Amino acid sequence: MSLKGKVAFLTGGVGGIGQCITKNLLDSGVTVVLFDLNKAKGEETQKKLEAEYGKGKVHFISGSVTKKEDIEAAFKEAVDKYSRIDYMFNNAGIMDDAVWEAQIDINLYPQLYEKTGVKVIAFCPGLTETELLTAGNFGTMFQAFISQAPPEQRAKHPSQKPESIGVAIPKILQEASNGSIWVVEGGEPGYEISIPFYPEWKVQNA
Ligand SMILES: NC(=O)c1ccc[n+]([C@@H]2O[C@H](COP(=O)([O-])OP(=O)(O)OC[C@H]3O[C@@H](n4cnc5c(N)ncnc54)[C@H](O)[C@@H]3O)[C@@H](O)[C@H]2O)c1
Repeated sequence: MSLKGKVAFLTGGVGGIGQCITKNLLDSGVTVVLFDLNKAKGEETQKKLEAEYGKGKVHFISGSVTKKEDIEAAFKEAVDKYSRIDYMFNNAGIMDDAVWEAQIDINLYPQLYEKTGVKVIAFCPGLTETELLTAGNFGTMFQAFISQAPPEQRAKHPSQKPESIGVAIPKILQEASNGSIWVVEGGEPGYEISIPFYPEWKVQNA
């Protein structure tokens, strides 16, 4: 299945992973609507990518995934402009336990796929070198933690550049079946995983 001519809507679209996904979607002929809180970076990204891929190939809309009215308005704007949305990436996220209420709002609240007939794929990046892991309270804490972690533990969680995710996405979109779960880590190609039905996880003596 070719991705050419499709339209994607990507929340958190101008972050580290979002930008890499966008680039690879554009290379596959997909038009990308970027939705992000960071207006300055969003406008700059749209300008830069339109110069490279052509006017209208990227469209930035600012707003927050925690605000239903922002999401609804952004969807309307995207559908008015392109008449369709084929792929929805629920990618916006923060890591900061100091503002845990916002963290839950942003990472868990937006359930954007409510209607039937929508293919849902869970995509799980391994440790990826973006501002999420280096900036702010969480970044400082995480960097201190990782520098002290024993080598065997670090080896279990190999890190990667966000470009590895961008490269993996078009293939996953083409191959993934509904309800499938995919991992990309350590800069390796993405692979599908299966989670056993929970009774198989029962602790025998519990
Ligand atoms: N970096 C990793 O190691 C890693 C690992 C697993 C999962 N993830 C997940 O991948 C996603 C992208 O992470 P990243 O590493 O690119 O982080 P990032 O910090 O580089 O980018 C996150 C983007 O989300 C945007 N954003 C934050 N709050 C928002 C809101 N309320 N509304 C709209 N946009 C908002 C930010 O402006 C930013 O552009 C996140 O959901 C993160 O939890 C990241």
